[in-house]
Amino acid sequence: MRSKIVAGNWKMNKTLKETEALLTELSAKRPDTEAEIIVAPTFVNLATAVNNLESSVIQVAAQNMHFAENGAYTGEISADMLLGIGIDTVILGHSERRSLFGETDDFLSKKVDTAMAKNMRVIFCFGEELQERQADRHFAVVESQLKNALFHLDASAWQKIVLAYEPVWAIGTGETASPEQAQEMHAFIRKTIDEKYGASVAQNVTVLYGGSVKPNNAEEIFSKPDVDGGLIGGASLKADDFVEIIKAI
Ligand code: PGA
Repeated sequence: MRSKIVAGNWKMNKTLKETEALLTELSAKRPDTEAEIIVAPTFVNLATAVNNLESSVIQVAAQNMHFAENGAYTGEISADMLLGIGIDTVILGHSERRSLFGETDDFLSKKVDTAMAKNMRVIFCFGEELQERQADRHFAVVESQLKNALFHLDASAWQKIVLAYEPVWAIGTGETASPEQAQEMHAFIRKTIDEKYGASVAQNVTVLYGGSVKPNNAEEIFSKPDVDGGLIGGASLKADDFVEIIKAI
């Protein structure tokens, strides 16, 4: 059985004090759920978040990492640095990393390999841009993103992969894929994985939806059979909204 996950990607938001305040509020208001709850604060606040949530079921993930073991990569963070503070889940391939920082499928596949070598779990983000959907290329784009960055992995590695389908046109725009569009793409993703790895891998991989998930649309999106939860940006920055989204799962 695949797990359900609600993850908050805090991006470049929240100072240390604000992070502490949000974590305290989230811990107090957290609803009981069988879903995993994950938050991804910015790098400088990760250690504090781990300490703060030590006895909580809320988990902490990083928003990115480099593929190299260590060395002359000014400004970058390694897998061992994350593991060293108790973090073993990392978001890779977010569309902002791709579009603003030039991360390609090929570059991302190296990061995925490092994460696998270090026994980390990856929340791998991908999704088409608006003009690609308008040109009816969204299935082809998603398929190539998956193949280029992930399809060199062994079937066993997929236990450590969580997918996050995030149509770029829906991220931070207030525009959401309709529940039907999300389901259609998630089913396609599962079919593509099935063709390469078989039904067991395809049925067991958690596929999250991301892109303007809010308290008022979460329940409908999460009700779709191939949607296993969400990667939440803006709405994860307010405890009450994030809690409502967690309740929706
Ligand atoms: P959003 O961001 O919920 O603010 O659209 C989602 C994401 O970037 O993961």
